[in-house]
Amino acid sequence: QQPVRIAPSILSADFARLGEEVRAVDAAGADYIHVDVMDGHFVPNITLGPGVVKALRPHSAKVFDVHLMIAPVDPYVVAFAEAGADIISFHPEAGPHPHRTVQLIRSLGKRPGIVLNPHTPVAMVDYLLDDVDLVLVMSVNPGFGGQSFIASQLRKIAELRRRIDASGRTVDLEVDGGINVTTARQAVEAGADVLVAGTATFQGGPAAYGANIRRLRGGS
Ligand code: DX5
Ligand code: ZN
Repeated sequence: QQPVRIAPSILSADFARLGEEVRAVDAAGADYIHVDVMDGHFVPNITLGPGVVKALRPHSAKVFDVHLMIAPVDPYVVAFAEAGADIISFHPEAGPHPHRTVQLIRSLGKRPGIVLNPHTPVAMVDYLLDDVDLVLVMSVNPGFGGQSFIASQLRKIAELRRRIDASGRTVDLEVDGGINVTTARQAVEAGADVLVAGTATFQGGPAAYGANIRRLRGGS
């Protein structure tokens, strides 16, 4: 089994020094750079748009994992693709035609991901799993960093692990929200292979990022 990949959420970074923060987590061993895009409509918070993704792109060659919490999605997909996103994930509740959105992301040469909110059943991916490269399980309600992990999502992770393995395809199973050393271990045991971590990566400032990421991976 591959070591779990860590995707620091820059939502918890210092927004006044975002470029430096991205370079710092890259150097500290981050696998993906997780970018939370919020529109104040689909979720009750506003963050950043494609212009910021474009500005950050030269600061790291790691996978840019762009998590769209916006509605509608389709009108903005091209802008995020051109800005340098590698993975573009969205919530199926954000529009009437999630399959079309997946096709659109794929047509731009990007990796499509589907995000399941805490209330969203696994069945939502039945007819999407063959077409996506990532499933993201929200272990908090989207909108804010620093919330507590919702334990019921462990069952969802385990069920998705079975479905992905049965599919025979390579699909990332990512978990987002409330990840700390304890919940990281639980999520990995349930079958996750990518962990988003905002608070747990950025706490303690740049000098701590390397140790924070190692601990989330299960090291000391
Ligand atoms: C929540 C975001 C998460 C968030 C995670 O809507 O999607 O990526 O930043 O933050 P922590 O790790 O602090 O729960
Ligand atoms: Zn996220």
